[in-house]
Amino acid sequence: MARPTVIAGNWKLNPPREQGEALYRDVVVGISERSLPANVQVAIFPPAPYLGGWAGSSGDLIVGAQDVASESWGAFTGALGAELLRGFGVTHVLIGHSERRHHFGDTDATCRAKLEAARAAGLIPVLCVGETEPERDAGETFDIIRRQLDGALEAQSVAEPLVIAYEPVWAIGTGKTATPEMAAEAHRYLRHSLREKWNAEFADATPILYGGSVKPSNAATLLGDADIDGALIGGASLDAESFLSILDAAIPR
Ligand code: 13P
Repeated sequence: MARPTVIAGNWKLNPPREQGEALYRDVVVGISERSLPANVQVAIFPPAPYLGGWAGSSGDLIVGAQDVASESWGAFTGALGAELLRGFGVTHVLIGHSERRHHFGDTDATCRAKLEAARAAGLIPVLCVGETEPERDAGETFDIIRRQLDGALEAQSVAEPLVIAYEPVWAIGTGKTATPEMAAEAHRYLRHSLREKWNAEFADATPILYGGSVKPSNAATLLGDADIDGALIGGASLDAESFLSILDAAIPR
């Protein structure tokens, strides 16, 4: 099955309302000005307050959440449940972003619970995995991303759609980008792991995005690799021109 190319912006805790609304408008207009091929998807993951107004009413633009609770409903002050998100038109959710893992203590078990809650509500999880610099230096990259993958997908059945984002922690917000070879090597290992754990059809259908200082200047090279199925973009997604120019690098001419 052909997998889509996905260009996604993770806005993190940015920007203030007026700028966010202008950014959103520019991205929506930019998408409408391009003829998106059927296999190219564009997504943004803005902070939660933006979701209600945009999710489900943004045409071709996918609007996703940056995190989800493992509980659906109930006395969980501050939590954002998957079914609630779904009811507001949200279709995708990031799970296990390294900032969630490092600042908020999300473990593999937390990620699994969140992933299962997302699935139960019919949301498509975008599972983020990636090693830190000391882990890479110690030659542990494959072990770490395999542990994160297996940990989150323990109960995953093959039939349900999934997106994976490989985001080496040392490349996030640092201006250091993994070389296309480094990224492709990790992506091939992740795809091999999906094939080994489930089957070739599932592995081939699952888009694996690269994240970590993706910019207009390096997008074409990264996206040129057959195993890199798109990008999860932080900083450069906060500027419509940069984000759209990365999108252009994904649209075949
Ligand atoms: P930067 O593109 O700012 O490095 O962030 C990447 C990221 O964390 C996307 O989720």
